[in-house]
Amino acid sequence: MENINWKEFGFGYTKTDYNVRCHYRDGKWGELEVSSSDQVNVHIAATGLHYGQQAFEGLKAFKGPDGKVRVFRIDENGKRLQSSSHGIMMAEMPLELFEEAVIKAIKLNARWIPPYESGASLYIRPVLFGNGAQVGVSPAKEYTFAVFVMPVGPYFKEGFKPTDYVIYREYDRAAPQGTGTIKVGGNYASSLRGGTRAHDEGYSAVLFLDAKEKKYIDECGPANFFGIKDNTYVTPKSNSILPSITNKSLCQIAEDLGMKVERRQITVEELADFTEAGACGTAAVISPIRKIVDADNKVDYFYGDEAGETSFKLYETLRGIQYGTIEDKHNWNTIIEF
Ligand code: PLP
Ligand code: COI
Repeated sequence: MENINWKEFGFGYTKTDYNVRCHYRDGKWGELEVSSSDQVNVHIAATGLHYGQQAFEGLKAFKGPDGKVRVFRIDENGKRLQSSSHGIMMAEMPLELFEEAVIKAIKLNARWIPPYESGASLYIRPVLFGNGAQVGVSPAKEYTFAVFVMPVGPYFKEGFKPTDYVIYREYDRAAPQGTGTIKVGGNYASSLRGGTRAHDEGYSAVLFLDAKEKKYIDECGPANFFGIKDNTYVTPKSNSILPSITNKSLCQIAEDLGMKVERRQITVEELADFTEAGACGTAAVISPIRKIVDADNKVDYFYGDEAGETSFKLYETLRGIQYGTIEDKHNWNTIIEF
């Protein structure tokens, strides 16, 4: 593309050429619509606006050195949007319709897909919300789905360089039987106070603990947590964290690399036993953790100024699969046909 500096993109907003929408009315989904406007029409009494009846997804497409464009685990994001929809009683979008909309949005914005050499990728953001008028608290009858795309660089500006995370017990992201396992905006709203304070105090994100006992690790702001010890990949089991597709992939990659994988509760004290730790997610990819500061107890858990060997291997393998330089033996990629 014309003089574009692919290195300049973070996770702000970049307007691309087109987005794709679809409306649910009278009990059924309509046709996909293409728009070049980045505004959407929202009813003044929409449940998405008043009662948080809203969910989103995040996935990425990558251009490989072979020139092919691959989208990573699109079916998993489609299924997770269905699970989010189920959780807050929104109309569920059929998987095929979700995939068609996402692929259409990628193809219509082909010139915005970053070249391989840039190390950047195309972030895809589907969103679904109640857009029917409903003032009593109950599910809407009408829904709007939209998907836009934009080129992105690393979520945490340091990229693969380790950064610091913090535990503050005074903030919770989600309740144990609440909405923590689905991708609804309310979870992000409740993370803003702690997250902003963490940034102001020089940390990348908050490492949230379980809201009930404040004993176990939940997740890292917009990413899951993992720790490494004795050739084992350990990641939290919790009923208030988002089931990360990146984390699920890393568990498989770790196994493929001959490591043991444990998904179980992790106490705060166990942070001292890991030799490496990281945050993982679509946006975060793998963001290695330099240190975790338990701000309430004035304890630091330190993992190193440089990324550890295992985190590096996991990162290289994941990126290799996504960019098509390592065999995609689990069929995670969908190749976009132009
Ligand atoms: N946890 C939270 C709270 C997130 O927002 C995300 C991002 O989607 C993740 C974890 C990572 O999930 P995934 O790997 O599916 O992107
Ligand atoms: C993602 O990784 O896609 C996320 O949702 C993180 C974020 C930007 C909220």
